[in-house]
Amino acid sequence: MAEKLAIHGGKPVRTEPFPSWPIFGKEEERRLIRALRSGNWGKLQGDQVAEFERRFAQYHQAKHGLAVVNGTAAIRIALVAAGIGAGDEVIVPPYTFLATASAVVEANATPVFADIELETSNIDPRAVDAAVTPRTRAIIPVHLGGLPADMDAIMEIARAHNLIVIEDACHAHGAGYKGQRVGAIGHLGVFSFQSSKNLNSGEGGIILTNDDQLAGNCWSIHNCGRVPEGAWYDHHTIGGNYRLGEFQGAVLNAQWERFENQAETREENGRYLAERLARIPGILPQKRTADCTRHAYNLFSLRIAPEVFGVGREVFLEALSAEGIVGMAGYVIPLYRQPLFENLAFGPYTAGRSTQPELDYRQTQCPNCETISNTQGVWLEHRYMLGTRGDMDDIVAAFEKVHENRDRLSGA
Ligand SMILES: Cc1ncc(COP(=O)(O)O)c(C=O)c1O
Repeated sequence: MAEKLAIHGGKPVRTEPFPSWPIFGKEEERRLIRALRSGNWGKLQGDQVAEFERRFAQYHQAKHGLAVVNGTAAIRIALVAAGIGAGDEVIVPPYTFLATASAVVEANATPVFADIELETSNIDPRAVDAAVTPRTRAIIPVHLGGLPADMDAIMEIARAHNLIVIEDACHAHGAGYKGQRVGAIGHLGVFSFQSSKNLNSGEGGIILTNDDQLAGNCWSIHNCGRVPEGAWYDHHTIGGNYRLGEFQGAVLNAQWERFENQAETREENGRYLAERLARIPGILPQKRTADCTRHAYNLFSLRIAPEVFGVGREVFLEALSAEGIVGMAGYVIPLYRQPLFENLAFGPYTAGRSTQPELDYRQTQCPNCETISNTQGVWLEHRYMLGTRGDMDDIVAAFEKVHENRDRLSGA
């Protein structure tokens, strides 16, 4: 007989804590104190942010790196730098954090949602191709959870229609696509350093590009519309203060020292976990594509097929949590179902409304996203992947235990 589930009063598979996040120590303290004592707390005076920009860009094989206040601002700056604005359409996936699409609105352009692939949760190039109109100016693929999107196919569509590609790599620090790091495969790429990300300074972001002109535009926009050779009170274009501060730069430099080891650990554990969990009926880990040479595993993403597994997602997550493994349902509705889009609650931004009176997100339907959002998507935080092989075995054991007891769970 299967061992009693913890939710029914049995012994949990796991009571020991998993690694917590963030991880920090003396190096963060040393760097922070150095920045503090230097008296140079702003990016324009200090050297921490500049050092980090160099290191991060170089590692991602990008010519330019520009640190900014967060990933949301990074996307908006990238769009504006590429000359995208009112009346322009930008193709985005609906299975993503708000910012991928809201930053498009904040750039005064129109997000157009193209469905994702069921197996990878990444934007489907066929859906992108079908969404292109004469107004399309850009595509923002998201490397969901750290799995690189199909960049060859996306760049091919971009070339055919003369579109800008901005990689939303906010989950994908250090991810590899055919041996190249993500972030500078497209014309621009953005990363976030918000607390839950694989590289973390509480808040923060960076824009990468190999294009000198785009880099110059981004620099001006993030620095109040100034130009590099201009004076302090010389403002040439609309911009703002989106500069990252030196304390965050200090933390990022310290975190960077740990990054490569952590990335390798996540990759190794994530691969192992995916392989083991895939043996359980109805558990479908995000499919790793042949082009993925490193998965960043900011999220371990999987689907539960309720009719095969035997219970629905919410019942499963509750039972799993009682066993000591806390999963999440993630993006539980497609992004276009948010009131923001259904009501075109765009505040001062005209977005597409001036040129597209027919704009109505209530008509948008992306069936694969609906399946994953509404019923199948499950995530585990990346900190789980920072554990040991034994930790991974405990996660597998908890999944197996819930499966073995599925008939005893209500909602079966
Ligand atoms: C896919 C994705 N894009 C964009 C962002 C925005 O980043 P930030 O929270 O730093 O503004 C996030 C992070 O929250 C994200 O997960």
